Amino acid sequence: MISIQVSSQPISEIKSSGYLFFFSQDNFAIPSNSFLKTLIPEIEKLISHAKFMGKSEEILTIPIMKNGDLVHVVMAGLGAQKSGIHNQETYRRALGSVVRTAEKHKIDSLVCELPDEKLFNFTTKEMAQQTATMLRIAAYYFDVYISDDSRKIGPLAVTIITSRVGDVQSGVDMGLIIGEAVNTTRYWVDLPPSTLTPTELADKAKDVAMETGLKFTVFNEEQIKKIGMGGLAAVSSGSHQDCCLSILEYSCGDINAPTIAYVGKGITFDSGGLSIKPAVSMETMKEDMSGAAAVITTMKAIAQLKPKINVIGITPLSENLPSGTAAKPGDIVRFYNGKTAEIKNTDAEGRLILADALAYAVKNYKLDAIIDIATLTGACSVALGPFFTGMFGLDEEIISRVSESGKRTGDEVWRLPITPDYAKGIKSTVADLCNIGATNYRAGASTAACFLQPFVDDTPWVHLDIAGTAFDVPAISYFRTGATGSGVRLLIDIALNWKK
Ligand code: BES
Ligand code: MN
Ligand code: ZN
Repeated sequence: MISIQVSSQPISEIKSSGYLFFFSQDNFAIPSNSFLKTLIPEIEKLISHAKFMGKSEEILTIPIMKNGDLVHVVMAGLGAQKSGIHNQETYRRALGSVVRTAEKHKIDSLVCELPDEKLFNFTTKEMAQQTATMLRIAAYYFDVYISDDSRKIGPLAVTIITSRVGDVQSGVDMGLIIGEAVNTTRYWVDLPPSTLTPTELADKAKDVAMETGLKFTVFNEEQIKKIGMGGLAAVSSGSHQDCCLSILEYSCGDINAPTIAYVGKGITFDSGGLSIKPAVSMETMKEDMSGAAAVITTMKAIAQLKPKINVIGITPLSENLPSGTAAKPGDIVRFYNGKTAEIKNTDAEGRLILADALAYAVKNYKLDAIIDIATLTGACSVALGPFFTGMFGLDEEIISRVSESGKRTGDEVWRLPITPDYAKGIKSTVADLCNIGATNYRAGASTAACFLQPFVDDTPWVHLDIAGTAFDVPAISYFRTGATGSGVRLLIDIALNWKK
């Protein structure tokens, strides 16, 4: 756990077990009257002997004795500037490295001033928001099933020193809401799949509604069959768990304000069904509800941050398991909008549940845009690896909104193609669509996106494939193994910046 305080007290007056200083690679001047100099009078010599350069993600930790106590001085590198500006991601990663350093040295409190926001093209509030969000994300650790106390991580209290307490505090408040949304998504994804079942996740959405006043609706399996959601019903048919579809609605109070919908794939466990996955591919398939979790926690953050826009969050929730009642290759399903699909491979289940949810959204709401988010294809994860979410769509305006939000938050997207050529790969000889692409079309992420397209009608739409980014992302200091909460920062930012 990490807590953040904002204070205008001089740093020298605050007692702490750690003091944190940020350094650019290009600018190393340490003013002679600085607090760092009073802590370590020979700091310049020490830095040069230790060969600390201020490189990106570089950390120098110096234990000192201060008034009889062990205190750690932590120096964090911000890397070099490019045409006078630092890369914002460098700052996020520096914060991740700082949290790992605190863990390693068992530092339980840290005091710092933030780097100059102008170096990063941030406002004061943005700088504070990013700081709070990333500290929260970096501190997340899924330890509820770990009983060995020596493997637990103690709490960390961070104090930010500033003369602009108002701006910094409001940035921190907002940042903590966003960080908490990301971590709640990660927690739900990290929970074992037999614990986090479809109805359990719907209950979590209901809890969000109770806490925030969002409108909540849920359809159970019987209702889903009755209203004609044949895709969702077919995917759920092999499981003892009931499927459901949960809907959260945020209204800003103005019915004429733009309305957008977020739709998240919620397969709480994907075994592949009868087209069963190899054991190794199944190991992490509790992650297959990452899109749904992202949508539900985004809705909570939106309820707290209150943007001037109406937002609907829809999540189709199901397991995908084999059994005597499971859907079979060769089955044909009819979706909510009347279209049909041949199921050739029961492991291409995500598109079947999303088709019903997208069709439901565009039929029952007047939408300015619809964005779906799903751990949809291994192909996307192969194409982009763990560092970019795949983005598909033809509406240039929303595409650029999503790209901008990706850059602003560090929750990055990379556009992949969706054209009529790929759509020919998912034709069926016996139904409107086939749920897998013809082998010679190969581009599985693009053919999957094409499958979804007929279900959004003319509503401006973007599809986000987070199969590569939702789980076990390596090499990024602020993540660990397990869930990342990918898409949460992105979806919140899109809603907050949706000006007409
Ligand atoms: N949930 C998987 C996709 C996935 C793979 C997510 C790896 C996260 C990590 C999805 O339901 C799936 O199984 N897709 C198949 C589609 C294929 C059968 C057309 C895939 O990608 O292999
Ligand atoms: Mn699957
Ligand atoms: Zn899946």
